[in-house]
Amino acid sequence: MIPLDSAELIKARDLLRENDVVGLPTETVYGLAANIDSHEALKKIFSLKERPFFDPLIVHVASIKQAQELTTEWPPVADFLARWFWPGPLTLVLPKAASVDPLITSGLDTVAVRFPSHPVALEIIRLVGRPLAAPSANKFGKISPSTAAHVRAEFPDLLVIDGGNCEVGLESTVIDFKVTNEFTDVRILRPGGVTEEMIRTALDRWSQTTNVIQAESSASPGHVKHHYMPPIPLAIVDEDFSEESAVMISEDLRLKEFRQPIELMLPSDPAHAARIMYSEMRTASESGADMIYVRKTEAREGGLWAAIWDRLTRAASWDPDSGNRLGD
Ligand code: TXA
Ligand code: MG
Repeated sequence: MIPLDSAELIKARDLLRENDVVGLPTETVYGLAANIDSHEALKKIFSLKERPFFDPLIVHVASIKQAQELTTEWPPVADFLARWFWPGPLTLVLPKAASVDPLITSGLDTVAVRFPSHPVALEIIRLVGRPLAAPSANKFGKISPSTAAHVRAEFPDLLVIDGGNCEVGLESTVIDFKVTNEFTDVRILRPGGVTEEMIRTALDRWSQTTNVIQAESSASPGHVKHHYMPPIPLAIVDEDFSEESAVMISEDLRLKEFRQPIELMLPSDPAHAARIMYSEMRTASESGADMIYVRKTEAREGGLWAAIWDRLTRAASWDPDSGNRLGD
């Protein structure tokens, strides 16, 4: 862990109090943060990221109380899961308080809240004294950053606080709730650091019966089909893939001059794989190869693999089923 530099943290606090944005570490990925009370800084996030306004931001808090103040309903199931998983990589979508700027929520009547566990993120939220809206610190649709260097490469003019390599390495799990007198549903809008199995295990300890379901992809406005994309095309291929077949894929992808593919190899431990995945995608993109391939291995399913394959599928430019180029 990189030691906290208090002068840097004070500088971050001052910028965040003065309508500016700062790059900060969280345990999932680095974020591009703005004080939720600064409409000007919130606008800056969208322009820096080149992010469309239909994609709402996650608000980061340093206590459950602070999260409750941003919402008008705090159902018992949300309270239970917040107490179980926070601080940590779980984001709760709940009805928003009137005070939350509609720019954060893309005009929706809900707000996404998360209590991160990274000590630097928490310290900055406490210093500013207000929650911070922060998307991942990358240009819209591109690879998320898991080191301060990744953020600096994309946003050279930004103050980026270095909190080391992100421990989880991919984004938080986003969930919402449907609660009636008869049933309680927990819906997973985006798989992430807290797995479906972990949510089920937690809810087994809860007094009420709850269904955990996967949402239709349209339920999360920003979780679009093409996202996390490296600068060179990425293809998900069968386990027995040979590099000769890469030529065929390169034709499908209409690569002008095809030189060589590079394999994105991930370790068998999913926590380790998640931690290094985005860095490895960046390294592969800079290797001189003109295409990345990842072998889809059947043994790698469930748990954190769900979030890993979710990201890789969205990062892919080639569809193994149709052989078509994606993202046109
Ligand atoms: O781990 C993370 O969540 C990171 C770190 C920085 O905290 N942040 C992050 O933010 O991944 P971003 O902006 O890249 O992704 C936010 C996701 C989007 O998919 C967005 O659609 C969803 O959260 N989201 C935000 N507000 C929502 C809402 N009111 N309803 C449904 N989905 C929402
Ligand atoms: Mg993102």
